[in-house]
Amino acid sequence: MKAAILLFAAFTGVWADVDLWRPPQELYGRLAIAFFPDSQGDSCKAKDISRAITLTTPIIPEANTCFNMSDIFSMNSSSGFQKSKQQSGGDPIPWGVSWNLINQDLYDENANYTHTWVRMVNELVPQEGRTSQWFYEQYTLPDCQDVRLGHEKSDDVPFYWINCQTDKHGDCKTAAYPIGSFAVWGTLNYDVHESNDNCRKWTEFGAASTARINAGWLIAALVMAMLVVV
Ligand SMILES: *[C@@H]1O[C@H](CO)[C@@H](O)[C@H](O)[C@H]1NC(C)=O
Ligand SMILES: *[C@@H]1O[C@H](CO)[C@@H](O)[C@H](O)[C@H]1NC(C)=O
Ligand SMILES: *[C@@H]1O[C@H](CO)[C@@H](O)[C@H](O)[C@H]1NC(C)=O
Repeated sequence: MKAAILLFAAFTGVWADVDLWRPPQELYGRLAIAFFPDSQGDSCKAKDISRAITLTTPIIPEANTCFNMSDIFSMNSSSGFQKSKQQSGGDPIPWGVSWNLINQDLYDENANYTHTWVRMVNELVPQEGRTSQWFYEQYTLPDCQDVRLGHEKSDDVPFYWINCQTDKHGDCKTAAYPIGSFAVWGTLNYDVHESNDNCRKWTEFGAASTARINAGWLIAALVMAMLVVV
């Protein structure tokens, strides 16, 4: 029965109506993030991660835990533990995230990864747009830095965040520049009964304000050009 529904869904594309759909075992109950180079953006949009480098974790970390794109996918292992920068006070268990990689062999250190498929779902009460237990952040710079030191006004290092639950099939997001690093942590004071009012949708920071300044310059330049013509 379930197989028939899945087959039906595959042919008609009406995933949203199929409540019996369950994610593959390796994604169930986990935060899952897959990355695509520009050339594979269509696979991201189609939510097809079968050939995408993917990181999953079942952990909701106590502290912000950062991964360098180039470090994590070139690890000599498909699973491990990444410690948070901030450490637990006196707790014998270090803060951090145990992780598993899928399709790690497809990582290309020369590719520019600009598309992210992210899936964060409360499997028991899945509801897109409600607060997720996870908070995901993504940076252009390595080491989860949001500004280039010495060039604090540079507009080519945007960063992003999301902590709303995604679609059960995940959501594809695009970045303006290649992804340098990303971070995972838990939503503070997470409450499963909380209404869907205050989670953070996918938002870009760091470039927008500069874009406004650029628009101002453009208008000034146009005015100057008109003055010259007149
Ligand atoms: C990677 O792992 C293999 C098998 O465990 C080991 O033989 C090899 O030396 C490792 N390579 C590096 C660079 O750590
Ligand atoms: C990635 O981006 C860099 C810098 O913009 C560029 O030099 C390089 O050719 C790009 N690589 C690919 C595979 O597109
Ligand atoms: C990320 O890479 C930088 C070097 O590019 C390194 O200094 C930093 O410790 C790395 N951060 C993590 C979380 O691995």
